[in-house]
Amino acid sequence: MADYILAKYISKHLNKEVTLKGWIYNIRKSGKIWFLIFRDGTEFIQCVVLKNEVTEKIFDLKSTLTQESSISVTGIVQEAPRQDIGYELLVKDIEVIHIAEEYPIALKDHGVDFLMDKRHLWLRSKAPFAIMKIRAEIEQASRDFFNERDFTLVDSPMFTPNAAEGSTTLFETKYFDRKAYLTQSGQLYSEAAVMALNRTYCFGPCFRAEKSKTRRHLTEFWMIEPEMAFFDIHDDMDLAEEFVNYLIQHALKNCRRELEILGRDISKLEGVKTPFPRITYDEALEILREKDYKIEWGEDFGAPQETAIAEEFDSPVMIWRWPATLKAFYMKRDPEDERYVLGVDMIAPEGHGEIIGGSQREEDINVLLKRIEKEKLPKEDFEWFLDIRRYGSVPHSGFGLGLERTIGWICGTHHIRECIPWPRTMVRLKP
Ligand code: 4AD
Ligand code: MG
Repeated sequence: MADYILAKYISKHLNKEVTLKGWIYNIRKSGKIWFLIFRDGTEFIQCVVLKNEVTEKIFDLKSTLTQESSISVTGIVQEAPRQDIGYELLVKDIEVIHIAEEYPIALKDHGVDFLMDKRHLWLRSKAPFAIMKIRAEIEQASRDFFNERDFTLVDSPMFTPNAAEGSTTLFETKYFDRKAYLTQSGQLYSEAAVMALNRTYCFGPCFRAEKSKTRRHLTEFWMIEPEMAFFDIHDDMDLAEEFVNYLIQHALKNCRRELEILGRDISKLEGVKTPFPRITYDEALEILREKDYKIEWGEDFGAPQETAIAEEFDSPVMIWRWPATLKAFYMKRDPEDERYVLGVDMIAPEGHGEIIGGSQREEDINVLLKRIEKEKLPKEDFEWFLDIRRYGSVPHSGFGLGLERTIGWICGTHHIRECIPWPRTMVRLKP
């Protein structure tokens, strides 16, 4: 057994002596008393050092200890109603592990670019701490959601021979004496997997050479992609709604402390209610035109348009039945009107943009062949994908949820780069 406790369990030791191991987040001094805000990666705790409670040597540490020095601190757990966690530590002893050099991140506001250059240190600060905790919770909740619903996890490869989501954002890499691409989505592999396992999901990083420097785009992001045999577009939307609602309710129940640290307006998340609104692309156009956007049928929506539509609703809105020209080759044509495909985008509230893209898949090999030809995709690379339609083809559907955009919405962050530990964007490959 370890001879110290994790700070998050401090309330279980009221009036008892405990030892904590961690780092100094901040120090405040005033005469016969000084305070250190201690963190150990599980909680932030105020420790009080009183002159008549410790030896002179310990009391004098106030002049040698620096921000981010590592220590082992022993003391008595006390109630402290004015502390946000309700407890603090009355210090009895401090053992210094390492005195930190002058720390580059002060507790004042720095620009995010500076902080991102120091990401390896910035992760220690309160907001990144809370976001990483929430991210881990949401990843686990996602796995639980699908595992509880008869889905089998089938991981997809990172090296691929062909594009899934258009050739303009492919990262090419040398693969011995051939070329390979980094995966943009595991979907095509999942389509094969559901014919073996009925309902599957994959969850991993996706890579897109996005030349856009927006606050919603990363070049490396994580996507969770369920795929279901025998689901049509409506079943697909039902599942997407149930999944996103599950994640929000999970965050409200299990991430209160982190959301408070972030100063998130929790009422906004509490306002999320099922059923989520479902509108067609054509209905979305009408909303935009009423709001004086000049937009033609067949044009895609950018961030301002998405935000304008989302503003009309408290819950995420699903926009479905898109012009075929805007969407990927594998989406199923609407049998009632060939100009449309049975695709869906889910737009998060508060300007966080598209968190889900999904569709019913084209199960007819002849239609698919025409699309592949029309889009000038290399047919030989898609032969294996066409096999799915050659042997017991069935209607099937799926979607992909962008993890970082979803975290961004839950946490209320301004920029998606804060929602992944080590962001990769067009301009950032370090640290
Ligand atoms: O809409 P997308 O491109 O859909 C697909 O890739 C499908 N193959 C998924 C499927 O049906 N299995 O991407 C899905 C989601 C988007 O809605 C968005 O949330 C996120 O992935 N996403 C990005 N997130 C961050 N940075 C980027 N560059 C992203 N591109 C897509
Ligand atoms: Mg999309």
